[in-house]
Amino acid sequence: MSNAKNIVVLVSGGGTNLQALIDAEACGELGPGKISCVISSKADAYALTRAENNNIKTRVLVRKEYADIASYSKAMRDALIEEKADVVVYAGFMTILDENVCDAFANKMVNVHPALIPSFCGKGYYGLHVHEEALKKGVKVSGATVHFVTAECDAGPIILQKAVEVLDNDTPETLQKRIMEQAEWKILPQAVKLLCEDKIIIKDGKTFIKD
Ligand code: GAR
Repeated sequence: MSNAKNIVVLVSGGGTNLQALIDAEACGELGPGKISCVISSKADAYALTRAENNNIKTRVLVRKEYADIASYSKAMRDALIEEKADVVVYAGFMTILDENVCDAFANKMVNVHPALIPSFCGKGYYGLHVHEEALKKGVKVSGATVHFVTAECDAGPIILQKAVEVLDNDTPETLQKRIMEQAEWKILPQAVKLLCEDKIIIKDGKTFIKD
């Protein structure tokens, strides 16, 4: 396909969101998007096995092997350029990259966050901890958000959100599972498709979807 878009997926863990993207591509639901490479910040991330099982190229850039965020971000930017990334997806990627990467791939990088931004987000809010805090606060709904990545953590323009009910007997684990199943695995592929199709307009820090 001449207008195919290379999607590079950044991961750090189990990779269920990566799997949702792989499944969506297999069903023709990523539009012109094609997952061309998966880059992990951890050598033992199960997400790498998911990529290998689907014949997707993998790379590992271990955060701990770099002195600081600046040198790690530079290495990541170089890798993304080498991979000719058109679209970059943070799918459970647990490292914050600096403006070197965010500026080079402005409006091309998206992140899935397991809460309704601006609740339970920002530095330190990742993985199960997000759901612990939501339960501690007693919110009745939580959910997931897909947003553009900017240098400020979880602060880029919001693309899609989906609310999920919180139940009285939820644990962080049960809430995490319901939010993944009912929200993350649905809205992440939808947002990636819209981005690959160039259907997202950003105006005054907000996004609008073209018809
Ligand atoms: C997902 O719930 C994702 O939203 C979250 O980590 C989990 C990764 O699961 N990301 C963050 O908290 C980022 N702030 P996965 O590896 O199975 O996709």
